[in-house]
Amino acid sequence: MKDNFYFDNAATSWPKPEPVYRFMDRFFREFGVNPGRAGHALAVEAEAMIGQTRRLLAEFFGFGGDPDRVVFTQNATDSLNTALFGLIEPGDHLVITRLEHNSVLRPANHLERDGGVSVTRVRPDGYGYIDPEDIREAIGPRTRAVVVNHGSNVLGSVQDIAAIGRIVAETDAAFIVDTCQTAGVVAIDMDRWGIDILAFTGHKGLFGPMGIGGMIVRDGIALRPARVGGTGVDSISPFQPDAYPFHLEAGTVSLPGIAGLNAAQAWFAALGRERLGGAEEGLSHGAACRAALDHIAARERDHVERLRGAFEAIDNVIVYGPRAGQPRVATLAMNIAGLAADQVGAMVDGDHCVCVRAGLHCAPLVHEDAGTMGHQGAVRFSPGYFTDDEDIEVAIEAVMDVAEFAARRRVAARR
Ligand SMILES: Cc1ncc(COP(=O)(O)O)c(C=O)c1O
Repeated sequence: MKDNFYFDNAATSWPKPEPVYRFMDRFFREFGVNPGRAGHALAVEAEAMIGQTRRLLAEFFGFGGDPDRVVFTQNATDSLNTALFGLIEPGDHLVITRLEHNSVLRPANHLERDGGVSVTRVRPDGYGYIDPEDIREAIGPRTRAVVVNHGSNVLGSVQDIAAIGRIVAETDAAFIVDTCQTAGVVAIDMDRWGIDILAFTGHKGLFGPMGIGGMIVRDGIALRPARVGGTGVDSISPFQPDAYPFHLEAGTVSLPGIAGLNAAQAWFAALGRERLGGAEEGLSHGAACRAALDHIAARERDHVERLRGAFEAIDNVIVYGPRAGQPRVATLAMNIAGLAADQVGAMVDGDHCVCVRAGLHCAPLVHEDAGTMGHQGAVRFSPGYFTDDEDIEVAIEAVMDVAEFAARRRVAARR
């Protein structure tokens, strides 16, 4: 019997694949020097690993441009702030959706309140889907950027980024996509989908550690750097270099974090090759990873559909978001009638060691639209690739238990 049944992969994936822990430890011990600053052998090795990781991630995300446009940041919040504050100017118009995380909502709100920017927030349907035609309608002559959350971190709904990208491409606006909940689960094709800036975080589906994230910025998108400083190159210049990645990478990068992403990329590719029977000699990194993602997505879909089916069959359980067959990731929001979300979260943890997240999940507009404010948010179950049958069974049992408790309490209150 496990100590914990982990259903909080939407917050951060856990555990990571074993090679990630091993490679981070080994690389940090053997080559843990400041990359890109010195010319000695250790620094060259560290820099080579970073360059390789940029190339792997470019392929992973279907980006055929210069891998130096893959920029490392602290996390997706850092990337999205860099994108929005670096791009938008007073007088501009910004289109976002009501599905965005606070890492987009708050920069947009600050730009609107303090920066002379107007913002349109496109509303999803009742299951968490944006109609691409609503994006077309929202775009105006002054629209500088359209930002869309690929996968909702509350409802799990996955947007049709290719369709939205086609619409944005007909305009002068830049298309920014937040891939936090989909990177590592859904195969993303930055070039074909017309994404101009792709923001990712390292510690969720990409199976890296916390403290590493990044963004891919298409050539031709002019971004002001969010911070300026040392880059290890062109030190004589009084200003931040224009060349990527240095333009947006000031200060020492997280070498252990990048090593974690590097090992995770190798893990994806190995999994993909294994799924294809190992016979695919010469298969590209991108193709191998896509095979892995098909497998991961199928496994996670199975987990979430089992949870959804079981929860919907329990009296007084309310399930939000996508119906069967709609495009989604394995994030499931629910509530139990008569209980606040955090009560349910505390009970499934306290009585069953089931780790979930309860509350507003940094996406308050989703909760307004889904009608979960009466429960002070929702309880989010997010299984991951390493979730197993035992986890699923214990989670269902825990919810049945809490729902029965809530029903008994209601009956007692009526007496
Ligand atoms: C959809 C979405 N966007 C952005 C973020 C922010 O990611 P990070 O906290 O790693 O910056 C998250 C994290 O929960 C998220 O789910």
